[in-house]
Amino acid sequence: MHRRPIIIGNWKMHTTLADASLLTRQINHIAETIDDVDIVLLPPVIWLPTLLTDLHHRPRSLQFGVQNFYPETEGAFTGEIGLGMVKNLAQYALIGHSERRLVLHETDEFINRKVQAALNAKLHPIICVGELTPVMLKSRGRGRPTLLQTQSDVLRQLRAALAGVSVRDVERLIICYEPLWAVGTDENVSGPHVQAVLEQFRTVIALQFGRAAAERVRTIYGGSVSPETIHEYTTQPDIDGVLVGRASLSVRTFMTIAEAVAHRAAASSHHGTRQLGDTRS
Ligand code: PGA
Repeated sequence: MHRRPIIIGNWKMHTTLADASLLTRQINHIAETIDDVDIVLLPPVIWLPTLLTDLHHRPRSLQFGVQNFYPETEGAFTGEIGLGMVKNLAQYALIGHSERRLVLHETDEFINRKVQAALNAKLHPIICVGELTPVMLKSRGRGRPTLLQTQSDVLRQLRAALAGVSVRDVERLIICYEPLWAVGTDENVSGPHVQAVLEQFRTVIALQFGRAAAERVRTIYGGSVSPETIHEYTTQPDIDGVLVGRASLSVRTFMTIAEAVAHRAAASSHHGTRQLGDTRS
């Protein structure tokens, strides 16, 4: 089975409106020439209406999402935005990012509510899971967690995020392995390590929803992805794409990564080999 490759640019709390507008127009221009990859931009939500109004032609491959929202339709939630407010603006919603888990203290239970809310709003939830325990934090910059450490922490987060999700919604999910120790650090996680983790994700998803549904879920990696490191990831069968932070703020670096993801998909199909994210036998 072919899963469509995806690259997501998480702009975090960066850009002025002028920067955001220029970046979006430049990305839009290049996206016209790249067909084989979904390009998703997550700008600060306040810029979203202007960015979309400014784009007169937009290729279907270029889509937008929100970095955050509150999982209720409306109410007394000062400072929050609901997904009804971004209807027709966003197709994706980032959920469980390590910075929100750590800095904003979002819990597994709250993240699960956000997943349900995003699915009810017919969006694609991008669910991030990654090591956050004190052991991992202490080890940041001083070695990496073992695969076993990763499993106990991360698979718990994944199961919690997926609780109550219905099988008919599963293929809209995007699951991102996003280890905090690799975010914003230049710690390069090896392709085989990510592949091993994503295989475990697919097993967890298959146990809950069945193998056929699990094969349709896109699984991606996020953490210090750059033009220098992207080839580490495009050769792994379960890495269907990447979540990019810092490198998404430059059109040159972001689109170099996007092209690498798209070329990998195209090259694989021409040579009859596995495509990025193809089903393993
Ligand atoms: P980074 O951020 O690419 O700057 O490390 C990645 C992320 O936000 O997950």
